[in-house]
This record gives sequence, structure tokens and C-alpha cells, in this order.
Amino acid sequence: MLIIGCSGASGIARNIAKKIECRFSQICSNKFPDGESYVRLMANARNEDVVLVQSFYGEINDKLIEVIFAGYTAMDLGAKKVTLIATYFPYMRQDNRFNSGEAISTEIVAKLMNGCFDRIVILDPHLHRKKKLSDLYEIDALKITAYPLIADYIKRNFMKDNPVIIGPDEESYKWAQTTAEQIGCEYSILEKKRHDARNVEVKFKKKISLKGRNVIIVDDMMSTGHTVIETIKKLKALKVKSIKCICIHGIFIEDALKKIKSYGVEVIASNSIPNPVGKIDVSWIVATRMQ
Ligand code: R5P
Repeated sequence: MLIIGCSGASGIARNIAKKIECRFSQICSNKFPDGESYVRLMANARNEDVVLVQSFYGEINDKLIEVIFAGYTAMDLGAKKVTLIATYFPYMRQDNRFNSGEAISTEIVAKLMNGCFDRIVILDPHLHRKKKLSDLYEIDALKITAYPLIADYIKRNFMKDNPVIIGPDEESYKWAQTTAEQIGCEYSILEKKRHDARNVEVKFKKKISLKGRNVIIVDDMMSTGHTVIETIKKLKALKVKSIKCICIHGIFIEDALKKIKSYGVEVIASNSIPNPVGKIDVSWIVATRMQ
């Protein structure tokens, strides 16, 4: 197997290659002066089982073009099989036409991937209305999850606090509920109404007493931070003792991390996207599923 680290995931790709003891190479990607993308594979792909590793944050569209060019090129150069591992995969939330004329980007991006890979492996994809990757992909598509790592992190660090797990919305139940069940602690899932990207409301479905409790908010991702901030406000009103927030994908746009921390809470994420609180290393879980 030849593991190729793309621009958003070279560190994780190197770790994965080390863990499964296979060849590692880094992609060369650049920009022409007019903004067009330039991509070059630096290792011989012929007859190889090529695995590209990418995390799609920041300049998301550039990172997409990069893997499209690299995937096609590996095939063109005679690779036996070409796989994309995405530690964070984008465009998963626009999985429907909410207003007339909208592009259903989740489906379109899946079609693009079908054209340039034999297989795709996605760490904790934000599947909501589409329940399975096979509802989207024609190629072999595998979902892997880092929630056991979150459960393990809580077990090792916070179990003495007898924590309560809170999922800020129905979509988070997969991560919050499963984590709580795995470590054997109480949990509650809130209801969320999203008015727009930066305006959300959350509420408890039923009355719950959390006074004096240590609470851990668990979600798949934190982006603008508004979901978690509204949840923190609700929890503070209930006079909880302490709040921690844990997610897999720490996107943290628009100074989100600083804003969330300003409420005096501890924030922990995985390193599926490089970020300053990425304490949970996902490379082992990805490597295990690649063998
Ligand atoms: C949405 O359903 C997800 O589970 C997250 O709650 C959401 O994407 C977080 O976004 P933001 O931080 O921008 O509120």
C-alpha cells in the first residue's frame, strides 16, 4: 500500500503509514499564478494500492480539486486501486433541496468522488437525511467513527466527576448517546432549531435537573460554535457545576474556539482537522480499519 498525504492531512497520513508500516509519500500541490491548481504525485503509482489521505477544511474547494486531480492521475498512471480516506469530509450538510433551485451538494460531490476513486473511507460523515454512505456512493464506501476514542478520553479523564453527556441536537444523538451508553453515564439530547448558519435555538425536550452536575457536551462538529454556545447558555441557567465540550471535527471558524472558551468551558476535539485542542488522535482508528 502507498499512503499519500494530501495538503490537509499530511501529519495524519504519515502516522497512518507508520502504524501500518507501508510506504508514505506527500503530494505536491501548488497554485498557478492565475489561481488554477497544480497537482503532482511524487511516488510511482503503477500497480500500487494507492491511498490518498485528506481533510477538507479551510480552502475546501481547492482541497476537493486536489484529490480529484490526484485520484484521476493515480488511476491514469496504472494504480491497482485508488482509495480516498477523508478524516473530515465536506458538503455533507446540504443533503436536500431546502429552497427551490438549490444544488444538493452532498450528492454532487459524491458523484465526483465516484468518478475518480475505487473506494472512499470517511471518518464520522455528517449523515442526516441520507442514512448510509451507500445511499450516496456507487463505489465502495466505508464509514468509520471516532466516538470510541471520545468515550475512552472521557473514561480516562473525567469519570471521577460522574458526568452527564449532553447532545445539543437530534443529529448529535449518534455520538452523544452512543458515547454515554458506552461509558455508562446519563445523557440528554436537546432539540435545535436552526434559523440560519449563525442563528440557532436549543431547548431541552423535557425538564431535567442538572444543578451541581459536571456536564460534557458531545457533538460531531463545532463550526461557528453557535450550537455549543447556545447549549452552554442553557446549561448555565440550570446552574451546572462545570461544562466541557468534546467534538470529533473541530472546524472552529470565525474565532469559534475563542468564543466558546470565553464561557469558561474546556474544549477538546480530535485531530481529524488540525486545531489547537486536537488532543484525540484519530490516526490509530483509521490505520486499524485500513489493514
Ligand atoms: C449539526 O447538526 C452538527 O451536529 C453541529 O451541531 C453543527 O454543525 C455545529 O455547527 P455550528 O458550530 O456552526 O453551530
